[in-house]
Parts: sequence; C-alpha cells; structure tokens
Amino acid sequence: MVDTSANFSGSVPEYYDSCLGPAWFDAFAVDLAQRLPAKPPGDVLEIACGTGLLTRRVRERLDPTVRLVATDLSKAMLDYARGKLSDSKGIEWREADAVNLPFGDCEFGAVVCAFGVMFVPDKKAVFREACRVLEEGGILLFNVWDSIDENPQKCDSEFPTRCTTPRCCSGFSRRRILET
Ligand SMILES: C[S@@+](CC[C@H](N)C(=O)[O-])C[C@H]1O[C@@H](n2cnc3c(N)ncnc32)[C@H](O)[C@@H]1O
Repeated sequence: MVDTSANFSGSVPEYYDSCLGPAWFDAFAVDLAQRLPAKPPGDVLEIACGTGLLTRRVRERLDPTVRLVATDLSKAMLDYARGKLSDSKGIEWREADAVNLPFGDCEFGAVVCAFGVMFVPDKKAVFREACRVLEEGGILLFNVWDSIDENPQKCDSEFPTRCTTPRCCSGFSRRRILET
C-alpha cells in the first residue's frame, strides 16, 4: 500500500505552502470557499486540509459561530497548518484518514476537500465516508484536476494537451451522492 503521508512530510509542507500554494492552489481555495454558505446546515469538516490554504479561506467565509474541523492524514502538513494559522480562532485540527473518518454519522452540515480526493486510492470510500458524516441535505464541496478538454477557457492551438484544469463539484445532497 502507498504511504501517502510520507509524500507530505519533511520539507514538503513548507515548499507546498510557499511555492505551490500561491502559484496554483490558493485561487481555487478562494473559489471553493465562496461556494459555501456562511451558515451551512451544520458544522463543517475539511478533509485533506494540507497546509491550511482552504482552511483559512473557509474560516474567513464562515460565520464565527460555525464549528470548523480541519483534518489531514499527514501529521507534518497538519502541524504546519496549525502553526501557520495559530492566530485564527475557531479551527479544530485533527489527524484523520479520509477513508476512515473519526466522526459520527450525520455529524456535519458540510464537508469540503480541495485537491485531496485524487491522492486516495479508494475514491469511492472517500465519498462513502463523507456521506456518512453528512447530515441529510448536507453540502459536499470538492475539487480535483480534470482534462483540459473540460476547461471552457481552453484554446486548442495554444495549450499542450497534457495540461489539466481544476473541476469543482458541489451541492450534492447526501442521498444523491449515495445513489450515484
Ligand atoms: C495537494 S495537498 C492539498 C492540500 C490542501 N487541501 C490544499 O488545497 O492546498 C493533498 C493533501 O491530501 C492529504 N492526503 C492524502 N491522502 C489522504 C488521506 N487518505 N486522508 C486524508 N488526507 C490525505 C495529504 O497529506 C495532503 O496534505
């Protein structure tokens, strides 16, 4: 089995946050966070929070009364995020595997995940777990990379075909995801 957490340790958190984050990921964190209502139907769970790029944006977006729990498989990423956002109030940090979430059924009103699903070998298990912890009618928001053909801004002649583009999926109710 692939040890994903080993790929997100050592110097990776700092490199990810200072180089890849601003260059690639933060704009999509802003996009994903703004799709979330300030007052979702319940508490909010973030999966695969990494160095906290989306965590920061979601915390800014949410009403201060809404509970936010940020989780990641990698202790190194989580420790980096916790240190970086130590001044931000109202974030609970917790190590957690996306396929085995340490939370009860229907505990959250929203689950968010930025560029995390693609790292988990069993993707169905991620969505099964997300649906299990979501209350009926809860919100699931996630983004992953997709093919350039799916990008409405693509320009056939100028983009190399191997480029990818992010896709954001949102607004599924718990029941609809379970039926998919
Ligand atoms: C590309 S980073 C994304 C981090 C952050 N969400 C962002 O948008 O910047 C992917 C993250 O997924 C985490 N990850 C990989 N497998 C995981 C799993 N099974 N459960 C939870 N997190 C996982 C990694 O530790 C890493 O922090």
